[in-house]
Amino acid sequence: MAKRNAVRNNEARTGKTAVRRPLMTTQAWKAAVDDRTAHIGIIGMGYVGLPLMRTYCNAGFSCLGFDIDDRKVAQLNAGKSYIKHIPSAMIKDVVNAGWFRATSDPADLHSCDAILICVPTPLTRTREPDMTYVESTAHLLADHLQRGQLIVLESTTYPGTTRELIKPILETSGLKAERDFFLAYSPEREDPGRQDHTTATIPKVVGGFGPASKKIAAAVYGAAVSRVVPVKSCEVAEASKILENVYRSVNIALVNELKLLFDRMDIDVWQVVEAASTKPFGYQPFYPGPGLGGHCIPIDPFYLTWKARQYDMSTRFIELAGEINTSMPEFVVAKVGEALNTKKKAINGSKVLVLGLAYKKDVDDIRESPSIELIELLRERGAKVDYNDPHIPKTPKQREHNLGMTSKKLTPAMLKSYDCVLIATDHTDYDYPWIVQHANLVVDTRNATKGVKTGRKKIVKA
Ligand SMILES: NC(=O)c1ccc[n+]([C@@H]2O[C@H](COP(=O)([O-])OP(=O)(O)OC[C@H]3O[C@@H](n4cnc5c(N)ncnc54)[C@H](O)[C@@H]3O)[C@@H](O)[C@H]2O)c1
Repeated sequence: MAKRNAVRNNEARTGKTAVRRPLMTTQAWKAAVDDRTAHIGIIGMGYVGLPLMRTYCNAGFSCLGFDIDDRKVAQLNAGKSYIKHIPSAMIKDVVNAGWFRATSDPADLHSCDAILICVPTPLTRTREPDMTYVESTAHLLADHLQRGQLIVLESTTYPGTTRELIKPILETSGLKAERDFFLAYSPEREDPGRQDHTTATIPKVVGGFGPASKKIAAAVYGAAVSRVVPVKSCEVAEASKILENVYRSVNIALVNELKLLFDRMDIDVWQVVEAASTKPFGYQPFYPGPGLGGHCIPIDPFYLTWKARQYDMSTRFIELAGEINTSMPEFVVAKVGEALNTKKKAINGSKVLVLGLAYKKDVDDIRESPSIELIELLRERGAKVDYNDPHIPKTPKQREHNLGMTSKKLTPAMLKSYDCVLIATDHTDYDYPWIVQHANLVVDTRNATKGVKTGRKKIVKA
């Protein structure tokens, strides 16, 4: 083991690719996994790929991170993180120890035994699966595929992707799945910012294209995570991930719809959820909010909707949940209007401070964040909008949006200068009693001010 690792470490240090011996049998794979000589390649060093690399390095494997973004590659090789909850110190440690190297040269993937794909799977403008990242990765791999390699797709996608899309592209290499290389699907279950689970402790569902692929993929994951859940096929694994996300989307929509009803009935939905949560069985709490955000819940269910059309089915729960969840920012803006009205003010011409730009608390990710929609809706109605987010000093350029805003520093005087403070994300760092004390009016979409005792008359829940 020491010898093979020395080769890998030398490779990581020198940037030169070592010659790999193909691991063609499950026994050879088992030995390479047991003695940690299997070299792990990860494609896409983002919110999923980086924690996965950490998990494999912690388990004693050497890793290669491949990304098409040269800036990320340079930052990683300099021991720097670009994701808030992944410390630079960790990256520096594994780079300095020779356990990890990043690259944008696909030829470096020749040295990897297992290659795990963690590239984005967004929606197109017409809300259909955008498979361009997955497809281009598959083409790139087909050009560099080596006998005996294990290829695993981790990106969230519709059932059938691995077999119908990835396999034919990889086989243009002349190598056959299950005979010359191994192919599997294992969905990522990353939840950025979560403290009670890590990539290593979250059970990993694994579906193989064939029995050998399944066995080898299960062994590769089993060495790094606490529990592997092998399933019958890639399709079962793909569908299980979509089910998890549909489940969240539908239940969040349910509680969001109840929020609208209970608001009219003058019942506090958060108190209702808290009371219902005391039932020790048969109920799991979901919380209302200003709308869905993040890379997963607002997007992934529509991968299934798209696939269902090929089977002459419409996924009515998914569509309805999407409709309700995407209407939530409009409800929040209406609430801001009502709240300002009580002060004899209109949205038009008012100064509004949005607190929290991230799609959920304590993360620095603004993908699909409802805060962006809130800012745009308020601006359309003539409000002058600023934001504060301790995790996002300035708004990054996105595919659909480029707000070009910078986070405003919170002070008592600045809070007072806004007609309305809109809590869109309940970051832990915020001092809510202090915010309420200095604000003129607070619209709270997250029940973040629950514990605030003084100044409750200034608070409107939305
Ligand atoms: N972020 C999450 O919490 C989360 C959770 C579960 C599942 N997922 C799924 O995991 C997948 C990846 O999501 P993410 O959040 O890590 O995305 P991300 O945008 O943070 O990272 C993706 C990375 O892939 C790189 N990339 C894009 N195309 C590439 C290519 N052709 N070759 C190599 N690198 C390429 C990008 O530069 C980026 O660094 C998606 O399918 C997503 O749905 C994400």
